[in-house]
Amino acid sequence: MIDLSRFSLEGKVAVVTGGSRGIGRAIALGLAEAGADIVVTSRKLPDLEGVAAEIRKLGRKATPIAAHIGKVGSIKTLVDSVIKEFGRIDILVNNAGCSPAMGMILENDERLWDTIMNLNLKGLYFISQIVARIMKEQGGGSIVNMASMDGYKPEPYVGIYSISKAAVIMATKSMALELAPFNIRVNAIAPGPVTTKMLDSHWFHLPEEQAKAEKAEMAKHVPLGRIGEPDEMVGAIIYLASDASSYTTGETILIDGGCTIAAPEFAK
Ligand SMILES: NC(=O)c1ccc[n+]([C@@H]2O[C@H](COP(=O)([O-])OP(=O)(O)OC[C@H]3O[C@@H](n4cnc5c(N)ncnc54)[C@H](OP(=O)(O)O)[C@@H]3O)[C@@H](O)[C@H]2O)c1
Repeated sequence: MIDLSRFSLEGKVAVVTGGSRGIGRAIALGLAEAGADIVVTSRKLPDLEGVAAEIRKLGRKATPIAAHIGKVGSIKTLVDSVIKEFGRIDILVNNAGCSPAMGMILENDERLWDTIMNLNLKGLYFISQIVARIMKEQGGGSIVNMASMDGYKPEPYVGIYSISKAAVIMATKSMALELAPFNIRVNAIAPGPVTTKMLDSHWFHLPEEQAKAEKAEMAKHVPLGRIGEPDEMVGAIIYLASDASSYTTGETILIDGGCTIAAPEFAK
């Protein structure tokens, strides 16, 4: 018989990067509902304070800390602050990610490459390294990375982003293999389109009606017929963060409404 208490995060400390809005905010609230105390981090403190206030209403501790995850120095300061306050980190959700501009492979410049790779890949790698050293001393922990369906199937004009997310899938496997002896599990989720500021930035430059029409057109290409919501990512994160997934490591769970299994004439 399944013991549902294995999904509980009671007494655990979770750090959620990119926790100020979108998918990260939903994850931070979801982990708190499952029992964890939460550190929410992104670059802008005022946005984080709002999320922390929502978490406290759920009866959990919440600490907002501003940090730039693309900079290793900022990551070290963040982790030091978390340890100073909580003394441990049980769960790390590497959610922060960006896709600041669309552009063709023939035109993209070094600056765009560095912005995307520094956050989506380098930052994810080094915060995991620093936190894994702490988890090793503690006797274990769970790291959950944010990949994307674009890491499996490239999307035109967001090539650098797709490459970064494919690397996140491999980073997940690579870290999982090396960290398994220390009881540190590393997994990922790979969302399809989800309504957030990042997704809506595809259409920011368009008049409102045209933006709506383009988004509706995108939804038609999702087998489940709609764009996902941030809350729909949270169940898998709770599973991967908790003891319910104690035998799962190196795995990436696609949550894409069926996009990657759609027949070519259906998929965009
Ligand atoms: N939405 C989708 O359709 C979709 C699909 C697949 C995968 N994903 C992935 O899901 C994750 C969350 O995306 P989202 O759609 O929720 O995006 P979002 O709404 O743009 O949120 C991104 C979060 O990351 C933070 N952030 C951005 N740059 C940062 C930096 N340099 N250092 C620290 N924090 C930073 C942002 O806060 P600040 O700007 O204040 O720093 C914000 O909290 C990303 O990894 C994304 O690639 C999204």
